[in-house]
Amino acid sequence: MSDDRVLLAVADSVATITLNRPDKLNALDSAMLDRLEVIARQIDRDVAVRVVVLTGAGNRAFCAGADINAWAALDPLEMWRRWVRDGHRVFDALARLRQPVIAALNGYTFGGGLELALAADIRVAAEGVQFSAPEVTIGTVPGWAGTRRLPEIIGGPRAKQMIFSGARIDAARAERWGLVNEVVPGDALMDRAQSLAIEIAANAPVSVQIAKQIVDGAAGHGTAAALETLAGALAATTEDGREGVAAFRQKRTPKYEGR
Ligand code: COA
Repeated sequence: MSDDRVLLAVADSVATITLNRPDKLNALDSAMLDRLEVIARQIDRDVAVRVVVLTGAGNRAFCAGADINAWAALDPLEMWRRWVRDGHRVFDALARLRQPVIAALNGYTFGGGLELALAADIRVAAEGVQFSAPEVTIGTVPGWAGTRRLPEIIGGPRAKQMIFSGARIDAARAERWGLVNEVVPGDALMDRAQSLAIEIAANAPVSVQIAKQIVDGAAGHGTAAALETLAGALAATTEDGREGVAAFRQKRTPKYEGR
């Protein structure tokens, strides 16, 4: 499957990921998930990238969800083995990126598209945005962490209302419920996402990225991993850390000073 259904562009310290399948309202299939995962790894390793903007091509949808034709063709065991777990792994990779992720949302943001948007740190929406978790209306259930992330972001009762009813939520209600940080006119969406990205990118990148780790860690996400990364970095600043490695290389007993 060609790669051009998920695009990556890097400029001015900002990486922009664009779901680029507008004829299918940017519905996500396996190849697109794979591509998102490759892009996430690439961005995470790129010290030049300080902020990520995630958006959808066209003016009708951010993403109308998981590709119904793709998952409906799977047998139940394939769904168990791959489909659901792939979505979890890829969305977690995006959520756990070092860099802040801003989702710029317009039009339909449904199902798996909503779940992808929820994996971002900040959501900016165009006035015409519509959110929905329509899974139960087509005989399935949210499968890409929506049942966890949606209640965390908007609270259990509101998440249950969305998930049980499948009803659409407009921009005003989404803003009231804290589902989005800001609502802007449709033609201002990308400018606003970009200006917010540039504002964040002007700050000390390591500070911003550690702050993301701490905020997420405090909420119980990647806590152990965040502690290990910070602890590993702290240990590497100590003289004892250097002494330990030097002693190993020189095949002698290390002499530690507690510094
Ligand atoms: N999976 C696969 N294809 C999808 C899709 C999805 N989730 N959402 C939209 N598409 C496709 C449509 O099949 C259509 O393709 P076609 O032109 O080859 O027929 C194209 O995208 C445009 O969608 P269409 O339904 O014609 O647009 P619309 O304006 O009439 O309706 C929606 C828009 C979003 C209301 C409608 O597409 C919809 O309900 N999509 C499914 C949403 C959903 O249930 N998502 C959760 C999946 S678990």
